[in-house]
Amino acid sequence: MYKLFCTILLISLPAKTYGEFEFKNPDCHTQADVADVTLRLNLNENPFGHSPLVNVAIAEALDRVGFSSVYADAPVAALQQDLAAHFRIDVKNILITPGSTEILTALPEAFAKENPNANFVTHKLAYSEFKSQGKKVLAVREAELNLDLRVNLDNIAKLVDSNTAFVILANPTNPTGHVIPDQLLRPFLIKMRDRGVHVVLDGAYQEYISDSSYRAPYEYQREFANVIAIGTFSKAYGLAGLRVGYTIGGTAETKAIKKAIGASIPSTSALSAVAAAGALRDAPWLLRNVIATRANVADLHSGLRGLGFETYGHDTSFILVRTAIPAKQFTDALHGKGILIHDMTATYDSPHLVRITSGTLEQNKILLAAIKTLGIR
Ligand SMILES: Cc1ncc(COP(=O)(O)O)c(C=O)c1O
Repeated sequence: MYKLFCTILLISLPAKTYGEFEFKNPDCHTQADVADVTLRLNLNENPFGHSPLVNVAIAEALDRVGFSSVYADAPVAALQQDLAAHFRIDVKNILITPGSTEILTALPEAFAKENPNANFVTHKLAYSEFKSQGKKVLAVREAELNLDLRVNLDNIAKLVDSNTAFVILANPTNPTGHVIPDQLLRPFLIKMRDRGVHVVLDGAYQEYISDSSYRAPYEYQREFANVIAIGTFSKAYGLAGLRVGYTIGGTAETKAIKKAIGASIPSTSALSAVAAAGALRDAPWLLRNVIATRANVADLHSGLRGLGFETYGHDTSFILVRTAIPAKQFTDALHGKGILIHDMTATYDSPHLVRITSGTLEQNKILLAAIKTLGIR
């Protein structure tokens, strides 16, 4: 039944044109175990797919004799070189992993340094899974946010002590969707450097930001030896299914992370590495994708505000929204219409918050119409 719905949806949606940039209508996102799902707006996946240069790179690579029959050292090394040139950073400071999740999971072990009292510090509403995993190795300290759910770096600094193995922050933040501006972050990084504390800056959504007050994590890493920058090809580059993430840090730090991951051979596949290199080459596609996403987020944001919702950050590809009814009830009602969004109740103990990924303009319209039809808020 849902396949029929998908087909009708695809036929009825015209391709969207932004300047000369034409997006193909994305396939309906499906999930093998959730057959009734039409739209996945719960995982911050890119609704526009990926650059056509990814297809070219994969096709060329598969044509090469021996490409798939040898381990991925060469394509991973090539991607490392490409990233080094892209970020203007030494190649020895870059570690490639299947995704940034693998890096996050390895951090506690990489930096605990056999200290039984070690802790790591982050803030409320972030990194639910990572925190519950990390807790097994290190104590977790969570700083309170400001009332508008913005990160409060003073609160974080107060939780840092001599047993702190690292501080971790996403910038832009997830799920709150804010940019932490340079004028706030820089003094914090200086403070942490003076105290000898590592700061992990996660730039999963960095490509979406053009705000002049924003500096991407890798930019800080060039300046601060205590910064470890994380990035991923899963979001703006649209390669979540291919699994490519990276760390930029000092050689001791990347070595420690690599050891904690336990990878003795390159841990992402050859195909994924060439795909990421192809994506990196297509700066015009990335820019058009980002412009379209920002326009769609703005449109979704005004649609949600028009329906009376209170919203938080919408600086990237998703919006954090306060619901009047319990978030679970709200999420379940949309699920009944085949639309998945992220309920924060179980994960973050926030019974009235949901995170909604912006889809295409048409997908966002479907979401807004479903909310209206259901009469939920
Ligand atoms: C802030 C942040 N960091 C890291 C990740 C992990 O991304 P991946 O493992 O796909 O690279 C996500 C995924 O949603 C994220 O939101």
